[in-house]
Amino acid sequence: MSHIRFDYSNATSTLSEKELFALEEASNDARRQLLTKTGLGNDYVGWVDYPETQEASYRAQIQKAADKIRSHSEILVVIGIGGSYLGAKAALEVLKPYFHKTTPEIIFVGNTLSSEYTQSVVDYCRGKRFSINVISKSGKTMEPAIAFRIFRALLEEQFGVEAKDRIFATTDPTSGVLRHQAEVAGWETFSVPADIGGRYSVLTAVGLLPIAVAGFDIEAMVRGAKEAFHELSHLPYKDNPAMLYAACRNLMLSKQKTNEFLVAYEPNMLYFLEWLKQLYGESEGKNHKGLFPVGIINTTDLHSLGQYVQDGQRIIFETVFHFNASRRVTTVPQASDNGDELDSLVGKSLHYINEQAMRGTALAHIEGEVPNFMLHLDPLNEERFGYLVYFFMFTTGISAHILGVNPFDQPGVENYKKKMLELLRS
Ligand code: PA5
Repeated sequence: MSHIRFDYSNATSTLSEKELFALEEASNDARRQLLTKTGLGNDYVGWVDYPETQEASYRAQIQKAADKIRSHSEILVVIGIGGSYLGAKAALEVLKPYFHKTTPEIIFVGNTLSSEYTQSVVDYCRGKRFSINVISKSGKTMEPAIAFRIFRALLEEQFGVEAKDRIFATTDPTSGVLRHQAEVAGWETFSVPADIGGRYSVLTAVGLLPIAVAGFDIEAMVRGAKEAFHELSHLPYKDNPAMLYAACRNLMLSKQKTNEFLVAYEPNMLYFLEWLKQLYGESEGKNHKGLFPVGIINTTDLHSLGQYVQDGQRIIFETVFHFNASRRVTTVPQASDNGDELDSLVGKSLHYINEQAMRGTALAHIEGEVPNFMLHLDPLNEERFGYLVYFFMFTTGISAHILGVNPFDQPGVENYKKKMLELLRS
């Protein structure tokens, strides 16, 4: 039984079952290409069976390093950008309770060139016992490389020769400047398998080391992903939530619903949506094709973009995350008077009210020609997080293959880098 139930019943005025099942063959074909490593970008499908093939000793090495960092650091500075930070950030946000500070504290840098932010983190770390996990698959990305230079200087200033034991580098097994630097300096390293690209790397040391340092169970996470791998690679199309969802996404695009709004009603999903935006955007937005992914937190955004969704251009469909329960329960209390006229809600849980907001919004949006897909889930723990990230990577692989684009490259990202370097050199 899948951890995810995909429901397209709120989209049947835009797509028909006949259209959906017309994509069965293409979807099966896409899955076969992923599983047999014969499709576009087949050099980068190492993630597909990785939850199964990942060695237990690899996780043991990660856990050992995490324990060491936990024992000697107040802060772990995680340096990385794009796929080299969003997965871990997403995991930390959804797994830890609100307002909970992990021990050690995890701070992400190198995902921006903001001078104000970077210097603020330097000031915050100064005088504290901190370690660095520098993450770059290519080992040559500008933003993390600059941040690493800055934080390494601070570490060396504070710890002298001991700094070496506080640097952990996650990078390609053989190539790249970072791999070379690590070997020369003798830092502990973690390899990202050569056939797993950045945005598909959350279940490698890229995500697992910071997640383990934060105290979460990486064994359970990989176990969840393994379960997803087995289910999604075997379930027939009609029962396969990832394949049906991937086909629906392509149908929406063919009907000029070019913007996919990824909607959660839980604020701690913000970075999960950031991770997903990157996964979809970089994997599918090429050759002038692809859906434009937008992350939305409701009901917050109903009071900003909600107007556009209801009444703006009819180019949107929504994929809504629905959690079957809430990890914390709060109810509307009795008040000394009914001045706010809310007495009818007394005793109702906020989760129930949030659900009615979600249902009401779906009805209003469907009426406004905005089709809705629903993903029904249980509240996330490590295992379900592992399942969920695998679900979306699998969906992306299938969806991009149906679309006819290589899900694993990102040629467009190079253009800004080239122009920036020209400016920096002039
Ligand atoms: O998905 C990708 O490959 C990218 O988003 C990368 O993760 C990002 O550009 C960072 O690259 P690197 O890890 O090589 O520094």
